[in-house]
Amino acid sequence: MRSVPQHIVIIGATSAIASAVAARYAVQGSSFLLVARDEQKLQNVVASLREQGAGAISVFVADLRARDQYPAIVRAAVTQLGQIDLVLVAHGTLPDQTMLDRDVDAAMESMLTNALSAMDLAHRFALVLADQGRGSLAVISSVAGDRGRRSNYAYGAAKAALTAYTSGLRGTFREAGVHVLTVKPGPVTTPMTLGKKMPLMVSVDVVADAIVRAITKRRQVIYTPTIWRLIMFAYRLLPERITMRLKF
Ligand SMILES: NC(=O)c1ccc[n+]([C@@H]2O[C@H](COP(=O)([O-])OP(=O)(O)OC[C@H]3O[C@@H](n4cnc5c(N)ncnc54)[C@H](OP(=O)(O)O)[C@@H]3O)[C@@H](O)[C@H]2O)c1
Repeated sequence: MRSVPQHIVIIGATSAIASAVAARYAVQGSSFLLVARDEQKLQNVVASLREQGAGAISVFVADLRARDQYPAIVRAAVTQLGQIDLVLVAHGTLPDQTMLDRDVDAAMESMLTNALSAMDLAHRFALVLADQGRGSLAVISSVAGDRGRRSNYAYGAAKAALTAYTSGLRGTFREAGVHVLTVKPGPVTTPMTLGKKMPLMVSVDVVADAIVRAITKRRQVIYTPTIWRLIMFAYRLLPERITMRLKF
């Protein structure tokens, strides 16, 4: 049986999914570097993880659109944790596509958050793990990245890029001992989906359990819940002349 990650970096640590994953490791005494932009929310996460039994917790407050912060984030992780067992990249936004349809700047801004910043940080930490010769990198993408749709193509395109990038990282750093997991959740009940009607919504617990299991088993790509693998397989087969007419 593989050991529980003891030294964990979480990017986007105030995310509902990320905090649920963190809670599962906190009860086993893991230590954390938590990175997020909202200091108050971050302190709430820290308090909750401490209550659950976490070891040492450090925080780094940063708006992740500011790429000049990344070297300092990596340095803080290495300084605070020493060896890193797990890095979880979880931040993201789900913008209203109908607004982005007429606002290219906002669409590109969302690409910065959902694609560029996540790929950049994942790559930087893959290099750290490769230098160590071990460690897991788990990146939350989405089923939305499997095919562009009119209702969320900016988000979907960003997640498609992130999925492709993590595939590349997985192959590149495999021989250096780095495990890369790409997580593709379907809709999950979190602040991101608040007030939205989406099919097959699940709780964060379902997704957090799946992520922890996949990290332990060193899986490469997971759909969670798994039914989404089948749904997206079928959806990818539909010809564009049909999908271009779909409203969702
Ligand atoms: N919920 C779903 O249905 C679903 C489905 C598939 C994939 N996902 C993915 O799962 C991941 C976690 O999302 P969630 O569902 O847990 O939603 P969430 O609770 O809304 O978490 C999103 C997190 O991203 C952070 N964030 C956004 N922009 C940021 C920025 N510029 N700098 C720093 N932090 C930033 C938010 O911080 P603030 O609180 O400060 O805004 C928040 O902590 C995301 O990558 C999302 O795309 C979610």
